[in-house]
Amino acid sequence: MAEYSLTIIIPTFNETDNIENIIEAVFGVMENSGINAEILVVDDDSGDGTVEKVKELQINHSGLHLVVRESDHGLSQSVAEGFGRAKADIIQVIDADFSHPVEMIPKFYRAIKDSGYDVVMGSRYAKGGDIKNWPLKRRIISLGATFFGRILFPEITDPVSGFFSLKKSVLKNAVLKPRGYKILMEVLGKGNWSSFKEIPFVFKDREEGESKLKLGTMADYICQCIDIGLYALYHHETNVWKEWKKVFKFGLVGISGIFVNTGILYALTEYAGFYYLFSSFFAIEASIITNFILNDFWTFEGGQKSRMRQKWRRLISFQVVSVIGVIINMAVLFLLTEYFGLWYIFSNIAGIIVAFLWNFFVNRNLTWKLNIQ
Ligand code: GDD
Ligand code: MN
Repeated sequence: MAEYSLTIIIPTFNETDNIENIIEAVFGVMENSGINAEILVVDDDSGDGTVEKVKELQINHSGLHLVVRESDHGLSQSVAEGFGRAKADIIQVIDADFSHPVEMIPKFYRAIKDSGYDVVMGSRYAKGGDIKNWPLKRRIISLGATFFGRILFPEITDPVSGFFSLKKSVLKNAVLKPRGYKILMEVLGKGNWSSFKEIPFVFKDREEGESKLKLGTMADYICQCIDIGLYALYHHETNVWKEWKKVFKFGLVGISGIFVNTGILYALTEYAGFYYLFSSFFAIEASIITNFILNDFWTFEGGQKSRMRQKWRRLISFQVVSVIGVIINMAVLFLLTEYFGLWYIFSNIAGIIVAFLWNFFVNRNLTWKLNIQ
């Protein structure tokens, strides 16, 4: 039996205005809900009295623990260090500045303890979630960041949330490379999890002190996304690898379509005596249909049952996306050749790549969007 059933990690840097209130608020919520929790404050050696305040509070709270870090300053690094020191099997991460509603912690805990989810995330972008007090600039930056995150985790609306909980076992064997602000992305990209739940919440920006997010964190973030994508190529137990598999399968199906297309074009022209452009129309249509069937049963298998009724809608959606894909391919071919003077064969390869990305992402997120929740 572990000493605690929940470890709540609070990363801090210069939080003297908030630290006492947040610790008391969290312990209050834990007491009311009967959860035996420890709080683990991971501080980056704040010079403003945060550390002293925590030490003072430790006198009255035996479940209050403190780590003061002296090197490798950073939010993600601090949270990762907290993971390593957590005594309980379930871990919660929250900000010190009351941006995350502490009264929701028991809900996160129950979702793991009782319902068995591996990861539970507070989402600002799920239905019912919101952000208060954010200037337009920050909203735009955040939406951009979320967009990249969603390429890696299409089902997750807020993969960069700082408010989340997880089973400690998710981190077993995961080689985290924490940097920047987005430790949740690291956990999702490298951890071993299969189920997740998102809980909408309203993010309230800090009332005391200032946000420490800087623009340079954006560059870090893009490197982090690329790193997670590459990590998945070597670690096939991750969820990002499952996405890669879909990309590869979709590509193989596309190649099979070339054979169907060519075969029918040849057969109709040579044996049925059709005019070749007329044959081509049927050849393209036939390859769209075989591609659809293969993608439906193979590339995007799973979650099939919940979608069964909408098979015709999926086919129509795939058809429309494919036709737009052909137009995109031709438009790129035309533009690069006519205006950039590229050899038409190279222009066409670029067109194929752009059309492939279009086809994959739109079909992935529209045609075969899973009916989760
Ligand atoms: N140990 C440590 N080291 N803690 C830090 C550091 C650091 O370098 N920088 C910030 N923190 C702590 C703060 O003290 C606070 O408790 C929490 O991390 C969040 O920092 P803020 O500076 O208030 O973050 P924010 O409001 O801009 O960002 C929030 O939104 C992001 C998503 O857009 C946070 O919730 C992030 O966790 C989240 O990723
Ligand atoms: Mn904040």
